[in-house]
Amino acid sequence: MTDSHHMASSPDTTLASLTTLRLGGPAKAVIECGSTEALVQTVRDLDARGESVLLIGGGSNLVIGDDGFDGTAVVIASSGIEYGEEDGRPFVTAEAGTDWDALVAATVESGFGGLECLSGIPGAAGTTPVQNVGAYGVEVADVLRRVRLLDRTTGSISWVGPDDLELAYRTSNLKGRDSQVVLAVSFWLNPEQRSAPIAYRELARAIDVAEGGTANAADVRSRVLELRASKGMVLDPTDHDTWSAGSFFTNPIVAEGDLDAILKRITNRLGTDVSVPRYPADAGVKLSAGWLIERAGFTKGFPSDDAPARLSTKHTLALTNRGSATTADLLALAGRVRDGVCEAFGVELHPEPVFVNCAMPEKN
Ligand code: EPU
Repeated sequence: MTDSHHMASSPDTTLASLTTLRLGGPAKAVIECGSTEALVQTVRDLDARGESVLLIGGGSNLVIGDDGFDGTAVVIASSGIEYGEEDGRPFVTAEAGTDWDALVAATVESGFGGLECLSGIPGAAGTTPVQNVGAYGVEVADVLRRVRLLDRTTGSISWVGPDDLELAYRTSNLKGRDSQVVLAVSFWLNPEQRSAPIAYRELARAIDVAEGGTANAADVRSRVLELRASKGMVLDPTDHDTWSAGSFFTNPIVAEGDLDAILKRITNRLGTDVSVPRYPADAGVKLSAGWLIERAGFTKGFPSDDAPARLSTKHTLALTNRGSATTADLLALAGRVRDGVCEAFGVELHPEPVFVNCAMPEKN
C-alpha cells in the first residue's frame, strides 16, 4: 500500500534547493516522504526495482555534484515527536525528518535539558547519529538512546542501540553507506530543564558557570545560538555567508609521534611565541582545522569579495556559496585550502560532508 497523501513527486528535480550549500544538479526524480510509512514503502519499492537511491534529510552535510544524481532522491520529511520515560529517566523520540533545531527547542520548552548545546544546527533529527553531530562539548553519542533502522539489504526494521553504531568523532557505521535508513531516533533527556554538563570553555564563560557544571537549558540554548550566529553557523536563507555545510573539514587528529615535527613547522612559520590550540583525542592529539587554515594564509572571506565560493567571513572552516557558485567552484576552493595547509604545516585535512557524484580534486 502506498500512502499517497504523504508522498509527493516533485516536477523540479534540481537538488540544490535541498541542500544548505544550495549546490547540486538534477536527479531523475525527487520523492518527498511525509511519513515513516511512505518512507519505508518508497525505499522498498525503489530497491525492488533496482533504482539508485539518494537519501536526503536536511541536506546540511551533503555536497552534490553539478551533474546531479542519476537516480531517485528520497527526501525524508516525516516529522513528529513523542516523550517517554524509562527507568525513571525521560527521553524523546523523533521521526527522522523532524527538523533538528525544532526538536531541541521543543524539548527545552517542554521543561527538559540535555540537547541544548546542539542548538542551531541545521539538518534533520534522523541524520544526527549518522555523523555523530557535535557542538559546544556535547555530541550525539552522549545522549543517544537508540535509533530505528530500515535495513535495505534484508528489508527488516529494528531498534538499534548506540553501541552498535561505532559512533566516533563525526562518524558512525551509518555514514556514507545508505544501506540503513534511519526512521526514528531517540534521545535521553534531563528533567527540570537541567542542561548537560558544560564542557566547552567559551560557553562556560558566556553563561558564567564552572566548566563541568550545569545550568538552565533555556539559558544555555540562547547562548549557544548567539555563539553559533557569531561564527556564521546558523543558517539564514538571506545571508550567503551562512550557505555552507557547517565545518567543511574535521579537526585533524595527529599521532603523538608526529606532533613535534608539526609544531616545529608551525613555529618556523609563525614564530616561537605562538600558542597552538590542541586537545587530547582518542588516537593522538586533535588540532584545530580553522586555526591551521587561517594561519596557512586562508583568512576569513578568502579569496575575495567577488568569488562565487569563499571561506565564510566569520569562520575559516565554513566554505560558502555566495549564490552563484557551482560545486566545482566549491571543491576547487576546498582543494586549495587542503593543499595549502598541508604545504604549510604538513597536516592533512579531511572533509566532513558526504560527497555525491563529485569528489575533492586530486592532491597537489
Ligand atoms: N579559529 C580560527 N579562525 C577561524 C575560526 C576558528 O583561527 O576563523 C580557531 C580559534 O583558535 C578557535 C578554534 O579555531 O578557538 C576553534 O574554533 P571553534 O570554537 O569555532 O570550533 P571548531 O573546532 O572550528 C568545532 C566543530 C563545530 C562546532 C564547534 C563548537 C568540527 C569539525 N567542528 O568547530 O561543528 O560547532 O566546534 O563546538 O569539529 C560542524 O561539524 O559542522 C560544526 C559546525
